Formats: sequence, C-alpha cells, structure tokens
Amino acid sequence: MKRALLTGGHGFVASHLARALLERGDAVTVLDLAPPPLSGLALQGIESEVDLVQADLRDAGLVGATVEDAEFDVVFHLAAQTLVGPAMADPTPTFETNVRGTWTLLEACRRADVPAVVVASSDKAYGPSEELPYREDMQLRPASPYEASKAAADAIALSYRPAYGLPVAVTRFANIYGGGDLNFSRLIPEAIVAALAGRRPQIRSDGSPERDLLYVDDAVAAYLAVEHAVGAGGRAAGEAFNAGGERPHSVAEVLETIVEVSGSEAEPAYLGTGNPAGEIDRQYVDSTKLRELTGWRPAISLRDGLIHTLDWYRDHPEVRP
Ligand SMILES: NC(=O)c1ccc[n+]([C@@H]2O[C@H](COP(=O)([O-])OP(=O)(O)OC[C@H]3O[C@@H](n4cnc5c(N)ncnc54)[C@H](O)[C@@H]3O)[C@@H](O)[C@H]2O)c1
Repeated sequence: MKRALLTGGHGFVASHLARALLERGDAVTVLDLAPPPLSGLALQGIESEVDLVQADLRDAGLVGATVEDAEFDVVFHLAAQTLVGPAMADPTPTFETNVRGTWTLLEACRRADVPAVVVASSDKAYGPSEELPYREDMQLRPASPYEASKAAADAIALSYRPAYGLPVAVTRFANIYGGGDLNFSRLIPEAIVAALAGRRPQIRSDGSPERDLLYVDDAVAAYLAVEHAVGAGGRAAGEAFNAGGERPHSVAEVLETIVEVSGSEAEPAYLGTGNPAGEIDRQYVDSTKLRELTGWRPAISLRDGLIHTLDWYRDHPEVRP
C-alpha cells in the first residue's frame, strides 16, 4: 500500500486520479481549498475514503506540515488555477497559485525527501507554435498568463532534479475531457450540456481550430505510468512527458460528434472567425516519449470518450448550469 498525496482533489482530473489510487489500494491524502458545492470527490463518491487537508497551496506552513508529517511515497501535484480567461483578465492570482504554489509544495517535498513527485504542467506551456506536434525537447514559449504560469511551474519543477536530486517529473497533457468537468467554459462540457438541453452548442470560433483531446481515464493511466517511471531511480526523473489523443480534432468535428451521439437535432452555431483571443489555434502533442518508456497509449477513441462523457452528464443533471 502506498501513501499518496494529491493536490487539487476537489477538481476534475485529480478526483478521477484519486479514485484510481484508492482502487489500487493507496491511502490517499487530498490537499485542496475548502470544498466547492460540487466537489469532484463527492461526485466520484469517494469523499469519505480520502484524508482531506484543507489548505491553500501558497500557505508554506500548512503545506510543509502536511508533507513533512507524513511519509508519502508519492506526491501528485494537480492543484492550479486552470481557467485561461480569468488568468488573462487578472494574472496575479494565477501566478500566485500556479507558480508560488508549486515551489511551496516542491520545497516541502525536498525537505521530506519524497521518493516520487509528479507535477501537472500542460501542453499550454509550449505556447503557440508553427512546428507541430510538440515534442518534449521543444522550447517552452508561453504567450499568455496561463501558459506562462504552467511553463514557469514546469521549469521550476524540473530544476529540482539536477539541483536537489528530487525524483520529479512533469506532465504536459493535452485537453482532458470526461465526466465531472464542471468548468463549463470549456468546449466539451459546454457543448454537451447544450446538446442535452436541446440547445444549439454555441462556439466562439468558426469551428476550424484544432484540439488534442485526451479522455480522462487515459490521462489517469498516463499519470500512473509517469509515477511508475519516476520512482525508485526510474528514468523519468527530471523529465517532461506529453500525452495526448494521437491526432488533433477540429472543434467542428468534436461538436458534430457530440450532436450526433446525443441524438440532438440542434446543429452547432459557429459565432466567430478563427480562434477566440488568448487561445492557441492549433496544437497537438507527440506522446512517443511516454509510450516508449512506459508502453502507455490512449485506449479510448474520441467518439467513445464523448459517449461516456455524455452518459455521465445525462446521469448528473444536478451539475448542469
Ligand atoms: N483539464 C485539462 O484539460 C488539463 C490539461 C492539461 C493539464 N491540466 C492540468 O491538470 C491539473 C488539473 O486540472 P483540472 O482541469 O482538473 O482543474 P480543476 O480546475 O478542475 O481543479 C483544480 C483544483 O485546484 C484547486 N486549487 C486551486 N487553487 C488552489 C490553491 N491556491 N490551493 C489549493 N488548491 C487549489 C481547486 O480548488 C481545484 O480543486 C491542473 O494543474 C491543470 O493545469 C489540465
């Protein structure tokens, strides 16, 4: 049995990861802010199975005490301010949480000699690029506050390997989707909720931007693969890993699939031209490095992932705005 610390467990991806860790028999501690009205842990039905530490990542005293008082075998750091629009409107809270929060946690991990640390960066850390797909050896060229916050956290985390010998890896995953994402400004939850209500999904672009989409179960499997490869002197320490859905999909393709699998008659409405401000027009990642090291590859097609996701929102009307 491993003792795992997971930051951001009330959120979308970390709550799925928490469930997977419990299923493999880990003792799971979740560090997050006060529970929101709809916690991911509650939606997964696992709230009572984890130890909850209510703390702000920026609180070095509390974070330090949490990490240093327990001998964690692994720390997964997923907590972050994840919304691109609010980060653009006022970057300071995003920098504070995503950058300062990351070094605060890493400092605690360093002092406690945690044997495996996995830090969630993002494919957004690469910034816009003509050269695609992104590979891990490409330079990070963030062009917006959210991108910069993830790139900074990414660089800081990786520096802890050469500087302090901390076994830490960072993940640069593509857009993750699946049941339980309550960020309804994101493409897939927003479009699914519209389709289920019989409304036309409204999109702020002309449908041409392309997205790399990773089903949440595949993302969880990728986190576990990275964890496995980073601990016990594994070759992943000090390395970054992409994971994505193997090929990009246009926003129009995603929407049309949602409309089709939902049985809705309402065609998507494309309200803009090109891409909404502050978002990258086209990006996708090359996951070869993770596949070659660990054997991981995405198992769920976009169509199947959207069917599972739609089923989840159909079964959870209480979360729909
Ligand atoms: N969702 C995606 O498409 C995607 C893709 C690539 C990378 N990521 C990364 O994965 C991670 C999880 O993403 P998500 O979509 O599940 O996010 P989310 O917004 O659903 O959850 C983030 C969690 O972090 C917590 N948090 C925020 N500020 C905090 C603070 N100051 N102290 C403690 N906790 C705090 C929130 O309360 C929330 O529970 C993030 O680091 C994100 O950058 C997400």
